[in-house]
Amino acid sequence: MDRIEIARARDAHGELTLALRGDVLELVVDGVFAMDSAQTSTERELARVALDLLTGTDPVTGGRGGLQVLVGGLGLGCTARTLLDSPAVGAVEVVELHPALVDWAHQGLLPELPDADPRLTLTVGDVLDVVPRRTGLDAVLLDVDNGPDFLVHTGNAAVYGSPFLAAACAALAPGGVLAVWSADRSPTLQRTLEAVAGGCSEVLLEVTRAARTFTYALYLAVRPAR
Ligand SMILES: C[S@@+](CC[C@H](N)C(=O)[O-])C[C@H]1O[C@@H](n2cnc3c(N)ncnc32)[C@H](O)[C@@H]1O
Repeated sequence: MDRIEIARARDAHGELTLALRGDVLELVVDGVFAMDSAQTSTERELARVALDLLTGTDPVTGGRGGLQVLVGGLGLGCTARTLLDSPAVGAVEVVELHPALVDWAHQGLLPELPDADPRLTLTVGDVLDVVPRRTGLDAVLLDVDNGPDFLVHTGNAAVYGSPFLAAACAALAPGGVLAVWSADRSPTLQRTLEAVAGGCSEVLLEVTRAARTFTYALYLAVRPAR
């Protein structure tokens, strides 16, 4: 199938390419496949599990409304889209390392974020710098790399370490949710979150891609309510 490159950019963190294979949109970072629009169920699930924890069974009246959520990593915008589809969400800040990807979103090249939703803010930055400066969030959702054991950006190793995860917990309001996406199960990450947050649950998600089955994982911690 023909592959049509839509956009390409290079910045201090590497090279980004957005391309179409048929009707499938593909994001490539430094020549490495990052994600495509053919299979985005786990990126969406990252948002859903956090919303379920925060809102209970009724997305409007069962829990808190006006939820303030920070998402680490824009990608194709699927986690952000799922959040914005919920009426319980009051504000979403997406923190993205690559300025070009944020520009492409503003230019309408990411179909998941077609409209200017007043609840959405796109911030160019590194989660390692931005998250520790935030407070009172209802959720911090991190999907910036493949997980601790197979990094695209070596600098992201710190995202899965105790100091940063403790800072992410401290950015939450009491009862807030910290959720981390990983392409593999990671008992080490689970133990780290248990240590910094006092508890952590693992959600395993099976995904089939090109006739192969993968098991991705989400790690969820809740900041104790006072
Ligand atoms: C797999 S994609 C995220 C997918 C996203 N959840 C979605 O729904 O499409 C990872 C994103 O994180 C960004 N990223 C990588 N390291 C980062 C960091 N340290 N801070 C902020 N963004 C980062 C990448 O440029 C990429 O856009």
